[in-house]
Amino acid sequence: MTQRAAFLGQPYGAYLHRDIPQEDGELTHVGPGTPCGEYLRRFWHPVAASDELKDVPIPIRIMGEDLVIFRDLSGRVGLMERHCPHRGTSLEFGSLSEQGIRCCYHGWLFDADGTILETPGEPAGSTLKDRLCHGAYPTREHCGLVFAYMGPKELQPPFPVFDTIVGEGEEGHRPSSAAGGKHYMPCNWLQIKENSMDPVHTAFLHTIVSGAQFTEEFGVIPELDFIETPIGMVYIATRRVGDNVWVRMNDIIPPNIHQVASSSEDGRQEHGFDRPWLTQWSVPVDDNETMNIRLRHYSEEEYRSSNRPPVLTFGQVGDRDHEARQRVPGDYDAMSTIHWGMSRHGLEHLGYTDRGVIMLRNLVRRGIEDVQVGRSPLGAHQPAGQVVRTYANDTVVRVPAASSPEEDAKLLRETGLRVAQGYIENPPRF
Ligand code: FES
Ligand SMILES: [Fe+2]
Repeated sequence: MTQRAAFLGQPYGAYLHRDIPQEDGELTHVGPGTPCGEYLRRFWHPVAASDELKDVPIPIRIMGEDLVIFRDLSGRVGLMERHCPHRGTSLEFGSLSEQGIRCCYHGWLFDADGTILETPGEPAGSTLKDRLCHGAYPTREHCGLVFAYMGPKELQPPFPVFDTIVGEGEEGHRPSSAAGGKHYMPCNWLQIKENSMDPVHTAFLHTIVSGAQFTEEFGVIPELDFIETPIGMVYIATRRVGDNVWVRMNDIIPPNIHQVASSSEDGRQEHGFDRPWLTQWSVPVDDNETMNIRLRHYSEEEYRSSNRPPVLTFGQVGDRDHEARQRVPGDYDAMSTIHWGMSRHGLEHLGYTDRGVIMLRNLVRRGIEDVQVGRSPLGAHQPAGQVVRTYANDTVVRVPAASSPEEDAKLLRETGLRVAQGYIENPPRF
């Protein structure tokens, strides 16, 4: 149960409000053996971009585990415990070989799966290498990213393939998806996901407060619904643009993926399902830091353009000076500063527009409980070889306004829900 701070009902009352409740560790702690950590470990996560793996190993930290990732000289990717099982030197100083990585200290050689191939300093008859393995995790490269599975071996799920990343029936990936935009945020993973189920912030933060970072039409607070989908949940944000109704849906795909519809939509042209422009994983480095890895989906035309739109939009990283961020804040500033980087739910006062945040927390909690009782959590086991349908999109339909603002708000909501239900019943094909 979340411990709550007092509900402060009087002015100049800070003195009565100095207790800081604990974070909700069940939903936020990601280390080995924690409830959420074990839940997250039932999924494949991107841990690096393929093109980062050059001729030296890279130390990385994922879900509180210190690891090293490399591509050996025959092209295979290895992801293993950072510290050598002999006397603990960091394998980031190892040398890459045809088969795996060799520790710099006494030359032990490890294959990508953790098999110890050589222990050169040991006597010829030593059987140590045949009895001992180094800890390694399976990896898979897809669409320019390296994914890893860090859970129990016997529960390793098939690798999920989403329709936004692979065209149906195609081998390989869509030429119009591009990896990149890996960036870190000094905060817990869950508050990054919550941001994507909080569409009211696009009106305030991204338009009214900081000037239109997307299109002007985002500056209207939409009619809102949140519904569960076969793969997670969506928000449905519906706005009126003249005689049109613009329905925008963003996906949450548990545990840590969100898909974002286009930020250049303005609702002025009627159109059907328009694919999202972004898929983002938020992979915990540890409880207090998160690595966001994005795939940006381009139209063929955008992809081939010499002036291809950027992977990252304004304000996603903390690369501006502090005062500039204060004057024109972006997502990075709003998200990562929630309660010192670790949201304290007992200090929040959630309102009507936070239904999506609550629904998302419940999804995560349900997944954690599933793992605890031995069930497979939603999304962990997508059928092998089957493309997973996803729902994030913009749709613009012509529906002239109703006679009063109240009636029109109702009409917008009904339209949004009808569009969303239609896509869920008959998933559009790319
Ligand atoms: S510490 Fe790595 S081989 Fe000795
Ligand atoms: Fe945002």
